[in-house]
Amino acid sequence: MTSVFITGASRGIGLEFVRQYAQDGFEVHAVARNPHGSKPLMEVAGVHANVALHALDVSDFAAVERLGKELADIPMDILINNAGHYGPKEAQSLGKIDYEAWADAFKVNALAPIKLAETFLANIEQGSKKVIATLSTQMASIADNTSGGVYVYRSSKAALNMALKSLSVDLKPKGVSVLILHPGWVKTDMGGEGAPVLPAESVRGMRRLIDSGDLSLSGTFLSYKGEGLPW
Ligand SMILES: NC(=O)c1ccc[n+]([C@@H]2O[C@H](COP(=O)([O-])OP(=O)(O)OC[C@H]3O[C@@H](n4cnc5c(N)ncnc54)[C@H](OP(=O)(O)O)[C@@H]3O)[C@@H](O)[C@H]2O)c1
Repeated sequence: MTSVFITGASRGIGLEFVRQYAQDGFEVHAVARNPHGSKPLMEVAGVHANVALHALDVSDFAAVERLGKELADIPMDILINNAGHYGPKEAQSLGKIDYEAWADAFKVNALAPIKLAETFLANIEQGSKKVIATLSTQMASIADNTSGGVYVYRSSKAALNMALKSLSVDLKPKGVSVLILHPGWVKTDMGGEGAPVLPAESVRGMRRLIDSGDLSLSGTFLSYKGEGLPW
């Protein structure tokens, strides 16, 4: 059974990844800060015996290492770094920047996906698909930034993109594909009610890229539709 690890599984896009992979019979490891506190996640896990729950705050690196030890013998075909944090909505415009919040968002968005990849690399090498997919955002594109502002979210995801590019180069000889994905503007707590893309459509699109296991996509910045995005 193909195994997939999904962070930020409590709601939004992460929850939809869990739903779809569970439905399709994958061995799903749903990772959330408080899995039992998410009613929809508990409902999916209640219906599908192929869903295992793990509690993890991705910014707690000691906890990441503990989970790494706990799961040491489990092959991991696909790791999806989905957990992400927008940062304070108000306090990331010029004159109002909250630097503590900026550092916190950096840890969740830029550092944690790499810490997870490092921690679970041996599991990924034991897997057959060998895919690390990470949710970035078009807002991280330096070339595409014409509207300014949003210092915290934009810069933390731009740093993530650079780190993932290095990861893709470093892991290519091991046959591990590192996907850097923009899910679209998606209707979730983060995306808001006005977002045009539903989680189901976004996840279906990203899964086409992830499940292909295509090593030639590694280190490229792609939308959920498979379009290349400018850095
Ligand atoms: N929605 C969009 O339009 C959009 C666009 C571009 C990129 N993205 C990216 O897509 C990903 C998912 O976004 P979303 O729209 O589903 O966001 P969301 O609805 O705000 O959900 C965020 C998820 O991340 C988890 N999370 C946050 N901090 C965490 C931490 N320290 N440890 C563990 N989990 C943590 C949350 O868990 P809790 O429930 O415990 O808070 C939640 O499950 C993010 O990386 C986001 O940046 C989204």
